Amino acid sequence: MSEQAAQSRNASYRRMKDGTKADYVLMAENAAVFTQHTADRVLSYIDTVLAGVPGELVDTREHSLQTATRAFRSEADEETVVAALLHDIGVPFAPDNHDQIAADILRPYVSWETDWVVRHHGIFQGYYYFHHVGKDRDARDKFRGHPAFEKTVSFCEKWDQASFDPDYDTMPLSAFEPMVQRIFARDAWDARTRAPDENAV
Ligand SMILES: [Fe+2]
Ligand SMILES: [Fe+2]
Repeated sequence: MSEQAAQSRNASYRRMKDGTKADYVLMAENAAVFTQHTADRVLSYIDTVLAGVPGELVDTREHSLQTATRAFRSEADEETVVAALLHDIGVPFAPDNHDQIAADILRPYVSWETDWVVRHHGIFQGYYYFHHVGKDRDARDKFRGHPAFEKTVSFCEKWDQASFDPDYDTMPLSAFEPMVQRIFARDAWDARTRAPDENAV
């Protein structure tokens, strides 16, 4: 069923408690079709809303593309490249916890480790500037010893903190579209999303 066809049929309820089995079967079908188009909405959002966040030599859209480009050119695996592209997607509406927003969008489709890197990149990025604004640049040290600690340090050092350069040869969003589509086409919550040690996440 197409997204348009699914959305042309509406459930009947005005209060959820009045909904029928047929309503909720219909809504499950609608939700399944809607979910298939998540990648399209993510890509559209990057191209529009993220382009409106100013303040540095590149806007957040360009910073995101540049971070993903550096990850791609480092031959990072595909979900890591997509994570690099999306890592700041929460900035426009959750600037103080944007890393968690990005991680939650990716969470059903990526490894627990990639989730952890994205979820904690904000405090790890603090190593580069917290001391300039009265905060502790070593705040990330409370996570030292975590299995994803070094990967998060590396994500920030090699790609995130380095990607504010307007003269860098940044790849266009179109180059990443197939990668984003493939990651969001994965089965949600498959085996790769589970940590070997649940205490790690
Ligand atoms: Fe960030
Ligand atoms: Fe960033």
